[in-house]
Amino acid sequence: MKHWILLIVAVPLLAIQDDGLTVPGFDCQDCHGAEGWETLTLTGFDHNRLTRFLLTGGHLSADCIQCHPGTTSSEIHQFDQAETTCSFCHMDIHVGGFGSDCESCHETITWDMSNWRYNHQATLFPLVGAHSTLDCSACHGTEMVWLQGHLTTECLDCHENVYTDAVSTSGHTEVTECTICHNTRAWVPTEMVHHDRFFPIYSGQHRGTWTSCEAECHFVPNDYSQFSCGLNGVCHEHRQSEMDDEHDDESGYIYESSACLSCHPSGEEDD
Ligand code: HEC
Ligand code: HEC
Ligand code: HEC
Ligand code: HEC
Ligand code: HEC
Ligand code: HEC
Ligand code: HEC
Ligand code: HEC
Repeated sequence: MKHWILLIVAVPLLAIQDDGLTVPGFDCQDCHGAEGWETLTLTGFDHNRLTRFLLTGGHLSADCIQCHPGTTSSEIHQFDQAETTCSFCHMDIHVGGFGSDCESCHETITWDMSNWRYNHQATLFPLVGAHSTLDCSACHGTEMVWLQGHLTTECLDCHENVYTDAVSTSGHTEVTECTICHNTRAWVPTEMVHHDRFFPIYSGQHRGTWTSCEAECHFVPNDYSQFSCGLNGVCHEHRQSEMDDEHDDESGYIYESSACLSCHPSGEEDD
């Protein structure tokens, strides 16, 4: 890990107007003991309780003078000269590219971003399913494409290869809004519980009565807006003789899929 602390050269001349060692609010004994000035005892000093800068993570093991530097004792004792913003002490390796709010991405424990996974859930692209265990670089690469807006959130943009393969090898649909039929858990099997918002097939009368999207209903694989209600013998229960019988007193009845749906939008007998 590189050390980016520039403060040691940046600040020392700020404090020449006062060459006393007095620290407002503290006695010498709060920090120094009987063994001599060189030894810090800190018996009456607790940074986390008595200053407005909490020491956490990598800051806990840092020496006072790394943050309160100086070439003379007097300069070192100007403790109020330290500023709390990260970039006061740490070089902005992104040279302004990510703005000045370092804390929106970094904590004091490590610069490594792998613990940022949790924050990702608040972006437009939460990491769920198969995405939740990937290394950051799988999507962000090693380039600086970290900022919002630098990456697409469109499935197709990142998954064009598998899509093109599927289309050319297995007659996959050419509908490119993947999330109509897929989620991020896996491509196979497709999981689309939200189908029930259009027509219930995972609940109600039609639950468990079909084998695959294409077999009984979506006979045109490239156009899922077409559906067949399992007519013409594909679905035993819906064969024409039976249906005509059932509906003989229904004036608007015809043996056609869109008619079935318009009278039975939830797939129930008494819709
Ligand atoms: C808040 C804590 C704190 C207080 C209060 C404090 N000091 Fe210090 N003092 C330090 C630190 C930190 C150093 C630098 C230690 C180092 O070099 O690592 C230091 C260094 C010194 C040194 C230089 C020691 C050397 O290595 O040569 C002297 C002398 C000294 N202090 C005197 C005083 C006197 C006198 C007072 C009271 C008027 C005082 N200090 C109050 C924290 C404190
Ligand atoms: C990681 C950096 C860091 C370390 C390590 C650190 N400090 Fe600080 N300290 C700060 C910052 C930042 C402030 C906030 C300054 C302010 O209040 O304006 C501060 C504030 C203080 C203050 C209060 C100053 C005032 O009057 O407001 C004292 C006293 C102090 N530090 C002493 C120490 C001593 C003694 C040590 C070592 C035991 C130490 N600090 C270690 C960063 C650090
Ligand atoms: C007053 C100076 C100061 C401020 C302000 C400060 N740091 Fe530090 N930081 C240090 C020092 C000194 C170290 C220890 C340096 C070292 O060991 O490389 C350190 C260490 C770290 C480390 C550990 C690095 C490692 O390699 O283990 C991280 C992460 C870090 N700081 C993040 C931050 C963040 C984020 C902020 C803003 C919230 C911040 N720092 C504010 C001085 C500061
Ligand atoms: C939009 C998010 C974001 C912001 C804001 C941000 N960084 Fe980073 N930073 C990153 C990423 C991503 C990395 C690379 C982490 C990795 O490799 O795991 C990184 C790495 C670093 C490193 C480590 C470099 C190394 O060699 O390991 C430092 C130091 C750092 N940033 C400082 C800062 C400072 C200082 C600021 C504020 C001025 C800041 N960053 C703001 C995203 C950000
Ligand atoms: C599966 C792909 C994927 C993975 C893995 C991934 N990201 Fe992202 N990340 C994205 C996309 C897509 C965006 C764009 C979201 C947006 O524009 O709001 C993004 C946005 C971000 C942003 C910018 C957020 C903002 O508000 O500016 C940061 C920072 C980030 N990711 C960090 C990480 C880190 C750290 C990891 C590893 C823990 C990671 N990402 C893993 C796809 C991914
Ligand atoms: C920013 C790029 C990115 C975006 C956007 C993205 N993914 Fe991914 N996804 C990946 C990467 C990288 C992997 C892991 C490598 C791989 O399997 O291709 C992955 C893996 C997957 C997997 C697991 C594949 C397997 O074989 O196990 C599924 C499923 C998946 N993504 C679905 C989606 C869906 C659905 C969307 C749209 C909501 C989406 N992805 C958007 C980058 C992305
Ligand atoms: C209209 C529904 C639908 C849409 C939209 C859709 N798919 Fe599929 N996809 C399927 C079905 C059905 C399967 C076969 C699943 C099974 O066998 O359980 C499948 C299978 C796959 C497979 C696995 C193929 C194989 O041969 O193993 C991949 C990869 C895939 N889809 C990617 C995508 C991508 C990427 C998109 C968006 C660009 C997408 N799909 C859009 C319905 C769809
Ligand atoms: C004009 C409206 C209308 C159309 C079109 C229609 N139905 Fe019906 N369907 C009804 C009504 C009303 C009932 C309730 C009949 C009753 O309870 O006597 C019913 C009952 C049913 C039943 C339950 C039969 C039983 O076992 O009691 C099924 C299954 C059914 N319809 C399927 C279909 C199918 C498949 C189609 C398309 C070929 C279709 N319906 C078209 C109005 C319609």
